[in-house]
Amino acid sequence: MIIETFDSLPSTNQYCELLDLSQTEEFSVIYARQQTAGIGQRGNCWDSQPDKNLTFSLILKPSFLPAAEQYMLTKVVSLGITDCLQSLIPGGNIIKIKWPNDIYINDHKVCGILISNKLSRTHLSASIVGIGLNVNQTEFPSWVPNPISLKQITGEELFLRPLLENIVQAIQTRYRQLPTNPAILDQEYLSRLLRLHQPARYLYHGEAITATIQGVNQYGHLLLTTSEGRPLTCQLKELTFLP
Ligand code: BTN
Repeated sequence: MIIETFDSLPSTNQYCELLDLSQTEEFSVIYARQQTAGIGQRGNCWDSQPDKNLTFSLILKPSFLPAAEQYMLTKVVSLGITDCLQSLIPGGNIIKIKWPNDIYINDHKVCGILISNKLSRTHLSASIVGIGLNVNQTEFPSWVPNPISLKQITGEELFLRPLLENIVQAIQTRYRQLPTNPAILDQEYLSRLLRLHQPARYLYHGEAITATIQGVNQYGHLLLTTSEGRPLTCQLKELTFLP
């Protein structure tokens, strides 16, 4: 594992977008102690206090993976992170994956993931996996939705560098299951999915509905049934989870 550390970058994902990935080794990590313009999902920004949290990007080269199966990487990464957190967090705390790939502890967001896949014809050539994990920060700006950090759960300050290595290690372990045992990834991703089989409230195209998550299809679309029994297949922009 190669870890390149920067005191400050606008965004580790954006930095990786400028690299010639064909010349970059798989499992290279770009780690920034501070990001000045961190990027989140849906065009949001990712806010993180300097030296308090992990903000990094991991380069993968999943050339064996057909483009149509790229959602498997989301499963690999979210399972690797939840594996690692499970080993750190005392039992009784509930660690879940909020579709598609937010990591939640006790109904609060502890980690966000932003993946940018590069295609070469029918298959993937590289993937930039950006990860923001709240570690030692205990105060968050009011506009950050529903945050929590590992310190807020355990009461203890964690060393960032060993945690970074453990997370990347855990992702590598899941990544190795991908060519050999994808069924395990499907099964365990589902078993950790927040609100699976539980009726809950959502905004669907701006309309408040009650629906139940039934699963995720191979393209990563969320499958739900409404309280009236209507099946829904949703992409990220179509659905908002309501409290
Ligand atoms: C989300 O909105 O949940 C995704 C957040 C992803 C943040 C990480 S921090 C490291 C990497 N660099 C970025 O600019 N974004 C990702």
